[in-house]
Amino acid sequence: MVRFVDQIGRSRVDQSRDRSGKTAGVVARVRALVQDGTLTAGDALPSTRVLAAELGVARGTVVAAYEQLDGEGWIRTRQGAAARVAAGVGAAGRASVPHGPGVSSPAVRGPALHGPASAVPAPSVSSPPGRLLDARPGTPAVTAIAPKDWRAAWRAAADAPLRNALADPAGLPELRAQVAAQLGLSRGFAPDVDRVLVTGGTSEALSLVAEALRNHLGRTPRIAVEDPGYRSGRRAMTSAGADLVGVVVDEDGIDVDALAAAGPVDAVVVTPTHQYPLGSVMPVARRHRLLAWAGRTGTLVVEDDYDSEFRHRGAPVPALAALDTAGVVLHVGGFSKTLDPRVRCSYVVLPSGPVSGAVTAARTARGPVVAETVQVALAHLLRTGALRRHLGRVRRDYTHRREAIATRLAGVPGLEARALNGGLHAVVTWSGPATARAVVARTARSGVLVSALDEYEVTPGSAPAGVVLGYGGLTLPELDRAIDALLGALAAR
Ligand SMILES: Cc1ncc(COP(=O)(O)O)c(C=O)c1O
Repeated sequence: MVRFVDQIGRSRVDQSRDRSGKTAGVVARVRALVQDGTLTAGDALPSTRVLAAELGVARGTVVAAYEQLDGEGWIRTRQGAAARVAAGVGAAGRASVPHGPGVSSPAVRGPALHGPASAVPAPSVSSPPGRLLDARPGTPAVTAIAPKDWRAAWRAAADAPLRNALADPAGLPELRAQVAAQLGLSRGFAPDVDRVLVTGGTSEALSLVAEALRNHLGRTPRIAVEDPGYRSGRRAMTSAGADLVGVVVDEDGIDVDALAAAGPVDAVVVTPTHQYPLGSVMPVARRHRLLAWAGRTGTLVVEDDYDSEFRHRGAPVPALAALDTAGVVLHVGGFSKTLDPRVRCSYVVLPSGPVSGAVTAARTARGPVVAETVQVALAHLLRTGALRRHLGRVRRDYTHRREAIATRLAGVPGLEARALNGGLHAVVTWSGPATARAVVARTARSGVLVSALDEYEVTPGSAPAGVVLGYGGLTLPELDRAIDALLGALAAR
């Protein structure tokens, strides 16, 4: 029998001298073994102690690699049990889904809604108004971070030497280096540190890009956005002086033909890993088409990678930037979903193309926007693996919540629960006369806030009738209460 250590290939892990390089080596090898079918769902991996000894690396290197692989969904680890290859990934898993790594988001469907409104079952428990429950999207499980890790990060920030100097507008070099290393581990591309700029959230990143395009072009930039799509991002770009054009999305993400037909644009903003809010994943074929079109037309593609860390079903999806050979993708990621939107910290990874200089100049002109103390704390959370551990934990919680939603809504006639393969929100749509605004108002009367899908539209009518339910910040009982309220509101249609 071939030993696991031989499958991994000791020499390949050894190629890197530093610890994070060795961790990346183990991660990449295990991923490859799952992808080529050498390892299949349920296969046990050696313990971290045994594998570390066999590879001749520190145990922490293998622990970090397993955490990373668990975090990405390739394996499942449990205290006191062998780590195992997760179900539904790898060669066998991919064969059963239509689009390879870019799996589209199969909805959990009930039969079409032709029956009477009363076909919607009554809520399972009564929903006393009580405290107002905010089930609108946007809040992750902020309180799940281990308090000792959180405190250690802030102690590190307090312990950072005081100095008589201005902050670097590009961001703290250490945070940028940690972000670059993390992208290499989890998003399939490892940018040079000088291509990473720190921004004040995704919204500031988008406004920065719009301003940079304006300066670079010497005119109002025209930017295509997904319809329906991210409202705050649109607001940020219009405030920075851009004209926006909405482009329809289908079950594979933005429609590239409609984009091409929308007339010349200077940039397009997309959420290919989990379309916001509808939840589709752009299949690899469409990714290639989008990039080819952008390369041909000289259009910047802004990849908003806002919640890619949370993939509940299907193989993890690499970033669009990982496929970009033409230097057209500007990647945006951040800590709003992985940690807390209130830290107001994101980053952009500049493409190799000409817009980069303009974005850097705009960053310098605006100056630093994220307090250096915050950046030190975030760098500490990344360097020590605390954020990775946090992600491993909350990912499992989110998967449970996602399953709870899927289970409760699966049999409901006429309802469709979408966007559930990843992220922290679900979209519930229905056919029939009830308007989203009426359902939202009735749900609010039961003490639960959800968002109407039409709030995300650029063009009225681009979204189906439905609501968006954020489950990142809800406990399972709270989620139950939110679903009760929603079902109650729908039953009253
Ligand atoms: C599509 C999308 N992008 C980005 C973000 C994060 O934005 P910010 O970093 O400005 O909090 C969100 C938050 O809900 C989002 O929905």
